[in-house]
Amino acid sequence: MYLGLDLGTSGLRALLVSENGDVLAEEEAKYGTQTPHPGWSEQDPQDWVTACETVMGNLRQAYPDKVAALRGIGLSGQMHGATLLDADHNVLRPAMLWNDTRAAQEAQRLDQAPHMREITGNIVFPGFTAPKLDWVRSNEPELFDKVALVLLPKDYLRLWLTGEAISDMSDSAGTAWFDTGARDWSDAALAEGHMRRDQMPALVEGAAPGGQLRGDLRAAWGISGPVVLAGGGGDNAAAACGAGCFAEGSGFVSLGTSGVLLAARSSYAPAPATAVHSFCHAVPERWYQMGVILAATDCLNWLSRVTGQPPAALAGTLPAQIAGPSTLTFLPYLSGERTPHNDPAIRGSFVGLDISHDQAELTQAVMEGVAFALRDSLDALSVTGARLETLLAIGGGAQSEFWLDTLASVLNLPLDLPEGGAFGAALGAARLAICAVTGAQPEDVMTAPPIARQILPRADLTDAYAAAHDRYRALYPAIRGAFQ
Ligand code: XUL
Repeated sequence: MYLGLDLGTSGLRALLVSENGDVLAEEEAKYGTQTPHPGWSEQDPQDWVTACETVMGNLRQAYPDKVAALRGIGLSGQMHGATLLDADHNVLRPAMLWNDTRAAQEAQRLDQAPHMREITGNIVFPGFTAPKLDWVRSNEPELFDKVALVLLPKDYLRLWLTGEAISDMSDSAGTAWFDTGARDWSDAALAEGHMRRDQMPALVEGAAPGGQLRGDLRAAWGISGPVVLAGGGGDNAAAACGAGCFAEGSGFVSLGTSGVLLAARSSYAPAPATAVHSFCHAVPERWYQMGVILAATDCLNWLSRVTGQPPAALAGTLPAQIAGPSTLTFLPYLSGERTPHNDPAIRGSFVGLDISHDQAELTQAVMEGVAFALRDSLDALSVTGARLETLLAIGGGAQSEFWLDTLASVLNLPLDLPEGGAFGAALGAARLAICAVTGAQPEDVMTAPPIARQILPRADLTDAYAAAHDRYRALYPAIRGAFQ
């Protein structure tokens, strides 16, 4: 029996998976995010541990025999977060998350330092880990002096599960302290960020063993045999493992809190100027590239908060079928933007509001704005040479038929919908655990899911959506001056 744990932004998801990869049970525990100042986004690492105790307690109660037979655990998690620990492994401050944009100045300084893009293969975005530590150095110097270890969120959970400080290549590639081509920490990048290798965890590949479950937790959860943890992966690499995205040309689009358009690559071909991210895959000698937008379902959640209508009720105001773009345009930059603008200062807008517009029009415009932003990512990816002919559609937003139809027509690509929904990163994490314990080859374990159906672009509407995307694209340069 294997367990995949995905430490997401809104909660921890756990999947129990059999030896041959079938999903047997699922549990989730939610936690909150704190925003003490605009642009800040923090979580208490203790909440992650509590969530893990909750999901394990629930799984144990419902499936004691399956939990007792656990042989491996795979971890996946929100990327880039900084968990700062002292020499005794005490947490020094709330963890700063991937969508925290306070370190914009520090990111700019690091990004402009010679060789940083060359070493890391990426722009140093404010949400990455290195600028956050540089912000702490400038703003919380006494605390910075105590930092003995920095862990990514899933690796903090591993520390609690195993007592060991270990990370994997795919997650570490998002720190901006990492040589993504060489798959190792970079002493030069670390020095640029005023950090040292001894403050970093040990590294293993995602499909390799990375720690053993502590004896007291095994006893508490009723497990008699040893339990191996896999290196695991950042959530996007792990989702690619769950979706079987390895071969050149395979990819997915994810409508989650953030939006991601990911292409698997068989070689390392960084193109930082495009603002596309180039990271190690969770399996050896593979990489992937992706465009990331900071707010996807987060935009609909925002509209839900301000209208007092649950997201599903907002989606319910829309017609059954798309009929072409709205006259109202939404720019989804509620938390700034990464691909393609690398602009932490920009914020969202509705352009073209009319006295006649209602909730349905606003909802349609929000879904279209997210689709247009993902089209920008697709265009940026194509500059790197990535060629995508279909995409798997995953993430919570993929439950909306209207959103999927819009996205297929805006991207002008068929979208494959996995059967029974996608288990995403938690399944990828469990699959990495299977590889770590059994030594199975990743390509044998990480197969593509059966496809329930394919959503085709609407040939009669793609020109209209392309014209609307052109109008959308022209708006960013027109409004950015207002946010400098
Ligand atoms: C990727 C990124 C997000 C988080 C969300 O670069 O920042 O997709 O991983 O969990």
